[in-house]
Amino acid sequence: MHSRILVLGLGALGTASASRPCAPHALPEGTWAAPKEGEVRSPCPMLNVLANHGFLPRDGKNISKTIARAAFKDGLNLDPDFSDIMFDPAVLTNPYPNQTTFDLDHLNRHNLLEHDGSLSRADAYWDDSQVFNTTVYEETLTYFQTDTVDVKSAAAARMGRVLSSSRTNPEYYLNATAESISFGETGAYILALGDFETGTVPLERVRMMFEEERLPTELGWSKGTEAATAAQLFNLTQRIIDNTEFPALRARMNGGIHAGVMAKHHH
Ligand SMILES: *[C@@H]1O[C@H](CO)[C@@H](O)[C@H](O)[C@H]1NC(C)=O
Ligand SMILES: *[C@@H]1O[C@H](CO)[C@@H](O)[C@H](O)[C@H]1NC(C)=O
Ligand SMILES: *[C@@H]1O[C@H](CO)[C@@H](O)[C@H](O)[C@H]1NC(C)=O
Ligand SMILES: *[C@@H]1O[C@H](CO)[C@@H](O)[C@H](O)[C@H]1NC(C)=O
Ligand SMILES: *[C@@H]1O[C@H](CO)[C@@H](O)[C@H](O)[C@H]1NC(C)=O
Repeated sequence: MHSRILVLGLGALGTASASRPCAPHALPEGTWAAPKEGEVRSPCPMLNVLANHGFLPRDGKNISKTIARAAFKDGLNLDPDFSDIMFDPAVLTNPYPNQTTFDLDHLNRHNLLEHDGSLSRADAYWDDSQVFNTTVYEETLTYFQTDTVDVKSAAAARMGRVLSSSRTNPEYYLNATAESISFGETGAYILALGDFETGTVPLERVRMMFEEERLPTELGWSKGTEAATAAQLFNLTQRIIDNTEFPALRARMNGGIHAGVMAKHHH
């Protein structure tokens, strides 16, 4: 009995080390560490979180569809179809044609996935859009007046940032594709860190993601027991659009949500 368990145990270890060779002293997957010199990150806090915890490669490089799907699943319990919504446009930011992988810093290329009116980054016009910008982020926080972020305050924060960008940045640009991406990002952080049904997330979790690029495990968060799907992301994103206090834009997005990156998965 004991030896059988031992054999099974060793079998499992063998499989693990064969499929994932690890360098001596490598940090285990799940453990948080800030990026080291030469390791690259993106303007997207959630992808940076996954790299900081080692679910994505810690160097932020050479991310394939398979690697992205595993990271979304293991780190956040998000379905492969959710991961592909990110991956398919992301791989096109690789400056070399026809690639099957991307590096996180490829996402910094302006107006591909990276867009104006971000919640935590200055527009590319002002600043390196990869870098967290305190001024911008403090503006976002002004929309979060209670300890719970809901679809209404999340929609207001997104719209507020877009409006101040459009008023101040002489090169402001946000077409329908970027608008879809931006709405989707707001839906995504609520879904990954909060509750789908109510469309709410504790503010402190959102803050830890943006401010420390760390999973808010110590604040009581754990990944969902059921994988979150692309359908749930679209649903939550639609609720963000529906709660955006800007009737003209809402009408346009209700017609236009089928445009852009969301379209090909929205069936
Ligand atoms: C990138 O990953 C692919 C597999 O996804 C692998 O074939 C290739 O050698 C890797 N390249 C580098 C530079 O690590
Ligand atoms: C990229 O792929 C397309 C379609 O398969 C092909 O037409 C094109 O020549 C490729 N470009 C390069 C640089 O390999
Ligand atoms: C942060 O963004 C604001 C405008 O949104 C800009 O004026 C400021 O220069 C940026 N901060 C840094 C450190 O670049
Ligand atoms: C928005 O702009 C980007 C970058 O110029 C472009 O790739 C994309 O096709 C545009 N989308 C629409 C709907 O025009
Ligand atoms: C989102 O899904 C819920 C069911 O969980 C449904 O009641 C609601 O109508 C959906 N909302 C949208 C905008 O699709």
